[in-house]
Amino acid sequence: MSDGRGGVFITFEGIDGSGKSTQARRLVEALRAEGRDVVLTREPGGSPGAEEIRRLVLEGDPDRWSAETEILLFTAARRDHLERTINPALAAGRVVVCDRFADSTRMYQGLSRGDLRALVDQLHTLMIGREPDLTVLIDMDPETGLSRAKGRQGTEERFEDFGPELQRRMRAGFLALAAEFPARFRVIDGARPVEVVAAEVLATVRTALGGRADG
Ligand code: ADP
Ligand code: TYD
Repeated sequence: MSDGRGGVFITFEGIDGSGKSTQARRLVEALRAEGRDVVLTREPGGSPGAEEIRRLVLEGDPDRWSAETEILLFTAARRDHLERTINPALAAGRVVVCDRFADSTRMYQGLSRGDLRALVDQLHTLMIGREPDLTVLIDMDPETGLSRAKGRQGTEERFEDFGPELQRRMRAGFLALAAEFPARFRVIDGARPVEVVAAEVLATVRTALGGRADG
């Protein structure tokens, strides 16, 4: 599971409102209760600089940035997050649980306005060059996800505002991505009670962590 640098890097992916944040939090609580040293973080964000970029990309007019500019901004945020938060934690042998990572850029910027996936991947190779050890895809039908996401208050609405058609393409895209990278992806049905989903996530992660006593 580990790449030899010490820690284990776990990401959650899925459409808006699928329950990623809820499940990431639950997983971290469960792993900490087992005595593991765990860092919970998120994208865009996860370091002071990246949180500043988060405000630039998630607030304001939906047409504020072109898709290409967005790819640069999300990748800049990710690079800072990696340098300041993720890599130091992994080097210290900690488990890093991250709510969204590069797969979200592959989907949201790579698919929503033309096919920019190749550009996303090229920039990723150049500037990030790190994939998670395990990616939990919380799969969910867009109608349910959108109604859940709309239930939250806040000013970060740019991508949720893209509507159900885009969310349907994102869901299909995430499932295709899971098929493209079967070694690190696990797909979990998110349309069940929180506790049921959490139990399956924990079982999946435990299996992936295997016999690592220190994880
Ligand atoms: P995401 O991070 O994927 O956008 P959240 O974890 O923020 O999703 O969940 C979105 C909303 O749905 C929240 O109000 C949360 O309490 C609720 N929620 C999460 N998981 C479930 C579930 N399994 N069943 C019902 N509601 C859920
Ligand atoms: P997030 O806070 O995870 O939203 P949610 O809880 O609704 O899933 O992410 C905010 C938005 O940012 C979400 O709509 C997806 C988008 N996003 C991208 O477009 N590209 C990216 O690379 C990332 C990490 C997120």
